[in-house]
Amino acid sequence: MLSTMALFLVLLGTLCSFIYFFRTLTTNKNDRKLPPGPTPPPIIGNLYMLGKLPHQSLHRLAQRYGPIMSIKLGHVPTIVVSSPEAAELFLKVHDVVFANRPKVQASDYLTCGAKGMVFTEYGPYWRMVRKWCISHLLGTWKVESFAPVRKADMVSLVESVRTMAVEGGTLNLSQQVGKVVEVIMSRVIFGRCMDDEIELKPLIEETMYLAGVFNLSDYVPFLAPLDLQGIERRLKRTSNGLHAFFDKLIDEIEQGSTNIEEPKSYTDFFHVMVSLLNTPMNPTDKVQYIIGRENIKAIMVDMVAASFDTTTTAIEWTLSELLRHPRVVAGLQQELETVVGKNRMVEESDLPKLTYLNMVIKESFRLHPVAPLLVPHESTEDITVNGYFIPKISRILVNAWSMGRDRTVWSDNAEEFCPERFENSSIDLRGHDFQLIPFGTGRRGCPGMQLGLTTLRLIIAQLVHCFDWELPDAILPSELDMTEKFGLTLPRANHLFAKPTYRLVG
Ligand code: HEM
Repeated sequence: MLSTMALFLVLLGTLCSFIYFFRTLTTNKNDRKLPPGPTPPPIIGNLYMLGKLPHQSLHRLAQRYGPIMSIKLGHVPTIVVSSPEAAELFLKVHDVVFANRPKVQASDYLTCGAKGMVFTEYGPYWRMVRKWCISHLLGTWKVESFAPVRKADMVSLVESVRTMAVEGGTLNLSQQVGKVVEVIMSRVIFGRCMDDEIELKPLIEETMYLAGVFNLSDYVPFLAPLDLQGIERRLKRTSNGLHAFFDKLIDEIEQGSTNIEEPKSYTDFFHVMVSLLNTPMNPTDKVQYIIGRENIKAIMVDMVAASFDTTTTAIEWTLSELLRHPRVVAGLQQELETVVGKNRMVEESDLPKLTYLNMVIKESFRLHPVAPLLVPHESTEDITVNGYFIPKISRILVNAWSMGRDRTVWSDNAEEFCPERFENSSIDLRGHDFQLIPFGTGRRGCPGMQLGLTTLRLIIAQLVHCFDWELPDAILPSELDMTEKFGLTLPRANHLFAKPTYRLVG
């Protein structure tokens, strides 16, 4: 009797397990269907498929699996979004669910455990920092108040390129542009030019690389202690360099020994921040955040990294495309002669009238989005999008590089640089048109767009208006090297060189 009972219980248990297993399987299939994607091998998942230029590898995979694709990077479920319609679902319709950022080793080191803005968790601290940066640095009226800074630096830029033109030399355009962007941004952020104090640019370039590279330690945590790619070592070195620099500047202000060059028509961001040291950043709110040294340093790293490299990279690619397309340069110079004339440099007030310039810049952003995968987003809850199940804490990569090459959106000549495609088109790059989102969009969209766009428009307009440019060493336009280097931003792999000839009268 006992053995019959035991057998019955075993059978019942097996049946229940079978029903449970079957139900789980069917539920997964019907309600929890992940987007399609390549099968991930255990442990490293699809990481091995990314290669040196992950945005291009993901573009090719998306052509096979579709615009909402599921991959696994180590143990991290990742969704790759590659069409305007899909981007709208993730960045507008369900924006709030995808407004978080993943925790990564780079932000632990560089921004003291994500105490800045870019990699900071979505929530009240991030909201406060963002609001604060907009009111003291990035808002429209603030950006306009920096116009005299940009004007003075434009004069120095044109003078130094003109000297080179007289000497008949070849200019390292990448370096020259990097320098002027660094000077302009340093003046608005720090209130002075950092020229001789520290080589900030190499540190920032390294920061952008380390923040964007697929770091095994983030995806396969048990391998982190081995630091197989040497990334942690580089992160320590770079963050030490940056933090020592900001510590020194904070000390100087606290001790009243700042080296202010000239009286300014504005209060710079860094001085305002340091004046708040150890006080609540948001005194009227219920939950208050005391601003300490780490917060200041983290926010400064974000501001400097986000402004120097992005703006320089965008200008470099636009100038590269112009050197490859003399027809476009002729059109641009024609517009500049009509609006500005050949007797003076471009003024900021001319910019709204330069419609062809705007088309050229949009076209350059379409083919060369500065942040090819934007900045990774992360889901905060389980959600179904377009019939696909997206689990909580999935990483979302929006492939802006791929979207710029979509033939169904940009027609068969999607690979060609052709600014005229924006003629009579209402597509803008400010984040309302999901075909072109080089600044991202939604809650985590770029708050520095106005500062970046004003600076890059002015520099490009000036360089094309004041000079004719020629490639050195008899390189043909079609032969110009356009190799990319992947990181959080996507700069040219090699510097851009060209020979200037001054073209204004007087
Ligand atoms: C050509 C210039 C620039 C480009 C193309 C650019 C592009 C971007 C992109 C694609 C994102 C990510 C958006 C997303 O994840 O959805 C971003 C975020 C950000 N950008 Fe920019 N950016 C530029 C200039 C600037 C400047 C000048 C600053 C300010 C100093 C800045 C500050 C930031 C910050 C703080 C974030 C993070 C926002 C957040 O997570 O809430 N950017 N930018």
